[in-house]
Amino acid sequence: MKKRIPVIAGNWKMFKTRDDALAFIYQVNTKVPAIEEVETILFVSPIYLRTLIKRQEDNLRIGAQNMHFAEEGAFTGEVSANMLTNIGTTHVLIGHSERRQYFAETDETVNQKLLSAHAHKLTPTICVGESLETREAGKTNEFVRNQIKKAFKGISKENAIKTIVAYEPIWAIGTGKTATPQDANDTIKSIRQTLQELYGSSVSEKIRILYGGSVNPKNISELLNESDIDGALVGGASLNPQSYLELVTAAVK
Ligand code: PGA
Repeated sequence: MKKRIPVIAGNWKMFKTRDDALAFIYQVNTKVPAIEEVETILFVSPIYLRTLIKRQEDNLRIGAQNMHFAEEGAFTGEVSANMLTNIGTTHVLIGHSERRQYFAETDETVNQKLLSAHAHKLTPTICVGESLETREAGKTNEFVRNQIKKAFKGISKENAIKTIVAYEPIWAIGTGKTATPQDANDTIKSIRQTLQELYGSSVSEKIRILYGGSVNPKNISELLNESDIDGALVGGASLNPQSYLELVTAAVK
C-alpha cells in the first residue's frame, strides 16, 4: 500500500488539435478512477484549456504546461497565473526540461513561477532532472538536489506539501530509454532527503514525487513498485486514450 496517493500526469506538449483533444476527453472522462485512488492530470495546450476544463468530470484534472511568474505586464505571448485561474485552471507544470532547454528557463525563474503558482492557489508540478553528461560524470544526485533547493527557495511548508515534483532525466525523455526502476528510485530518494533537510520528514513524506521519461503501459508497474516513486509524468504514451487509461489503471493496483 502506497503512503501517498499516486499521480498520473499526461504532458501533451505541442500535440493534438482541438478536435483530437475533445475526442480524448470524451473517451477517458468517466473511465478514470476516483481521485482518492489516483490523481489524474492532463497538461494541455493553453488554447484548449477552457474547452477541456468545461468538460472535465470530477476525477480528471486539466492543467497548463507553463505560466509566467509576473502578475501582468509587457510579456508578449505569455500567460499569467491569474489568467489561468480566471478560466478555472487548477494545475500547472513548471520547469519542464524542454522549457529549460529551448526557452531559457533557469532555476531562478522556476522558483519565481513556483512562488507565483502558490500565491494563486494553483497546484504546481515542478520538473527536475539531469543530462546524460551529468549522469555519466556521477553527479546526478548533486545536480538534482541543487535544482530542488533552488526551486523551493521561499516556499512555505504548507505550500511545499501541495507541490508535486517530477524527476525526469533528460536523456530518458522521448528517447525510449527509461532509467531502471532502482536508479529512478535512488534519485527520487535523494530528492526526498533534500526536501526533508529543508522542511522535516512530516513534510517530505507527504510530497508526491513522480518519475518521467519514456514511461509506457509496459514499464509503469515496475516503476510504481518502488518505495519512493509516487506516479509518473508521461509524454508520448499519454497521447492515446487507451494507453493513458492503462497507465492510470496500473497506478490503482
Ligand atoms: P516521454 O516524455 O514520456 O515522451 O518520454 C515525458 C515528458 O517529457 O514529460
